[in-house]
Amino acid sequence: MRTVRVIAEARAEIDRARSAGAGVGLVPTMGFLHAGHVSLMERAASEADFVVATIFVNPLQFGPAEDLAAYPRDLETDTARCEGAGVDLLLVPGVEEMYPGPMRTAVTVADITARFEGASRPGHFAGVATVVAKLFNIVGPCRAYFGEKDWQQLCVVRQMAADLSFAVEVVGCPTVREPDGLAMSSRNTYLGASDRAAAPVLHRALVAGAESIRSGERSARVVRDVMSEVLGSEPRAEVDYAEVVDAGTLALVDPLAGDLRLLVAARIGPARLIDNVGAVAD
Ligand code: PAF
Repeated sequence: MRTVRVIAEARAEIDRARSAGAGVGLVPTMGFLHAGHVSLMERAASEADFVVATIFVNPLQFGPAEDLAAYPRDLETDTARCEGAGVDLLLVPGVEEMYPGPMRTAVTVADITARFEGASRPGHFAGVATVVAKLFNIVGPCRAYFGEKDWQQLCVVRQMAADLSFAVEVVGCPTVREPDGLAMSSRNTYLGASDRAAAPVLHRALVAGAESIRSGERSARVVRDVMSEVLGSEPRAEVDYAEVVDAGTLALVDPLAGDLRLLVAARIGPARLIDNVGAVAD
């Protein structure tokens, strides 16, 4: 695996691989890699001839009151994890390399960004869509891999890639969980012992909501109440939202029908955690 910090060098290396006939897979990350990221890289390595991973803590997607400066970083461990997962090229551009001047261009995705993370974190998805569009242009992947843990982000990236005619298949990969159900996230590192013990309540709420749908519940309000009750049983959880929506459009569906996604977000101590699971109502 080669690690480069300069976009032109990455492009030259990727062009060489492509002209030798390689299909290119991309795994964009913000680093501090865990088993969830490794699963994306391993999937990419099993499906693409040449795997590019990127580590870039993207300032555009952090709000003024968010944790940009404190965002955890560990390049040495990350590099070893990428290499072990079968990455061929690791691009680690600095902020100056990605944004050499003030950005006057932004990619915004309407509608599906209006609620949930988009409402709680204004500007976040424009930052994500803009940097992902840049990475697609830099790398030119046939496939790009994103975790389902950030379900709304996955929908936004899919919409952006379709709307802007990027020739890339956006592949969603299952959330990797700790044994107690907590979804793996770089932000879990902010949790002290008591907050860490409280955090699996998000997954418990989702499982209870999905179970009620499986048992025949078709009222969105009842499923919301089931999730809220579980979340409410944990005094450390400050709930932002608990909702059930259409899995593709993120629109509210009532009565429940088709492919659904249950979404929750809650602050637990210093960390704002999100999680989701799927359910089907036939
Ligand atoms: O999910 C992330 O880590 C980031 O939002 C992404 C997709 C790498 C864009 O900065």
